[in-house]
Amino acid sequence: MSRMTATARATPNIAFIKYWGNRDDDLRLPANPSISMNLDGLHTETTVTWSDKLTVDELTLNGEKDTGEACDRVSAHLSRLRQRFPVITQYAAVKSSNNFPIGAGIASSAAAFAALTVAAVAATGIELSEHELSTLARLGSGSAARSVPTGFVEWRTGNTHKESYAESFAPPDYWNIVDVIAVVSREHKEVGSSAGHRSASTGDLQAARIAGAEERFAVCKQAILDRDFTAFAEVVEYDSNLMHAVMMTSRPPLFYWLPPTLMIMEQVRHWRAEGLQVCYTLDAGPNVHCICVRKDAAKVSARLKAMSEVLDILKAAPGIGTQIITT
Ligand code: DP6
Repeated sequence: MSRMTATARATPNIAFIKYWGNRDDDLRLPANPSISMNLDGLHTETTVTWSDKLTVDELTLNGEKDTGEACDRVSAHLSRLRQRFPVITQYAAVKSSNNFPIGAGIASSAAAFAALTVAAVAATGIELSEHELSTLARLGSGSAARSVPTGFVEWRTGNTHKESYAESFAPPDYWNIVDVIAVVSREHKEVGSSAGHRSASTGDLQAARIAGAEERFAVCKQAILDRDFTAFAEVVEYDSNLMHAVMMTSRPPLFYWLPPTLMIMEQVRHWRAEGLQVCYTLDAGPNVHCICVRKDAAKVSARLKAMSEVLDILKAAPGIGTQIITT
């Protein structure tokens, strides 16, 4: 290997059945299976260049050199790849940029580690299956495993590194739903997901959440396959509420909701009662993902726009998986 380079593009994903807590924190083997869809139109593009000339890994994020935590996390991930593939002996220059507003509170680690993994491997010339790429992305950020395959994706827990990967169960055009994201805060979250996963089991509720996860996973997957919005909305909101109940009752507790978050959740339930096909789900932050059928997306978005607490709105249909753009 002399100087090899590749660029990959990945989207973030929104989980309908959430990943929260690991059975193995180092390997990011999740405590429960999860389901998500990729978010079309939002993406991270990452170029990895392995080079003999470098003595450390370098990161340029949205045009600026980063020597802080983000660079350390990227470098730790590249070291995992160096360890697993001894043919990689170099350090890498990594250039990454997002097309969605940074600080919009959209989880960027899934797209970031999916793009980084796929570009880093492609740049070496090593050919791996999508399953293998998903397992490797998982080591960088659990949810990144789900941004590798296309469309609607399931991630089964698995007992070992090799078994814990995500795969597609329906293509993006299978179901016309849209994620209308109501941004209510651009602040960086105080407690990130990695620390959150470690605290999941410190309260009483995580055990109950895990016990019912297989069943919710099956119900949610079937609702998507049947395009049954009523069944989907019920399990998606329940699963999100349950994860946030676990967060709020962890020791110390994690409160991600802000007053506008709760207000929007209440409105969404009200709109659904009026006949709009919309439900909410929240990740580890206060922004509300309003999932709706495409015909109701304009109405949902107009109603959100009318609220003074909503700073911004992003819309995404189901998206494809991680692609190599250039080698
Ligand atoms: C609440 O994948 O961001 O968004 O593995 O530490 O990077 P790390 O965590 P991450 O956790 C995602 C948590 C979640 C739910 C989900 O996406 O399933």
